[in-house]
Amino acid sequence: MSVPTSSSSSNKSDQLGFTHRFIPSGGENDKAGLTLLLLHGTGGNEDDLLPLGRELDLNAGLISPRGKILEAGRIPRFFRRLAEGIFDIEDLKFRSQELAGFVEKASRVYGFDSHKVIAVGYSNGANIAASMLLLTPQILSGAILFRAMVPLVPDNLPDLSDKRIFMSSGLRDPIATRQEAERLSGLLKQAGAVVDLQWQDSGHQLTQDDIQAAKEWLHLLKKRKKKV
Ligand code: MLT
Repeated sequence: MSVPTSSSSSNKSDQLGFTHRFIPSGGENDKAGLTLLLLHGTGGNEDDLLPLGRELDLNAGLISPRGKILEAGRIPRFFRRLAEGIFDIEDLKFRSQELAGFVEKASRVYGFDSHKVIAVGYSNGANIAASMLLLTPQILSGAILFRAMVPLVPDNLPDLSDKRIFMSSGLRDPIATRQEAERLSGLLKQAGAVVDLQWQDSGHQLTQDDIQAAKEWLHLLKKRKKKV
C-alpha cells in the first residue's frame, strides 16, 4: 500500500529532536481523532511502518520517529542493548522519557490530541512502547505491540487501568519468546491494563494475520469509545 507523502521538514525534526514523518488525520472523515505513534524495529526507519499504520486505520494521524541509537554506527534503534535481548536499562529509561517528550511536543506543533495517541510498535519499537506504558503512561492511551518482550520492571507499577493493549506474538519467535510475551502481558495486567494477547503461528517476522488481528482490535476499540 502506498502512503501519501508526509511532512517532516528538517526544521521540524530539529525542533522536535527526532527525524520523523507526520501525516495528519483524515479531517472530516476522522471522527475518532486518533494518532498512531509508529515505532519501527531494529534497523528500520521512520518510513517503515507508514503503510502498516495506514492499513490499520485509514483516517488516523500518523507520527513516525526514527530511533536515535545507532548500533554498530549504522543500525537505528530506540534504545541501547548490551546483547540480543539484554537491555541497557538506564538508557532505556532515558530514551522512553525522551520519546514521551517528543510525542508531547509533536502534539503541540502539529495540533493533534495528545490524549488519543496509540503506539504501534514492532520488536524494538514494541519494547520501547511497553517501556513508555510502564514509565510514562500518561502519553499513551493504548498500544499495539507486535513481538514485544518485557523491557524492564519498574520499581512501582503505574496505574494502567484506562489503557487498552493489543499484543500479537509469534508461537515460534526465538527473540521475543512465548515466555517473554506472557510475562509482559502479565505485568501489564497486574498494572490494571486490559490486554488482548493473540498468538500467531509464526516467528519474529510480522505476518498479514498480525495486521488483520490488530486492525480488528483497533476497529472494536474505536466502536467502544464512540459509545462512551
Ligand atoms: C530489542 O533489542 O528490542 C529486541 O531484542 C528486539 C530486537 O531485536 O530489536
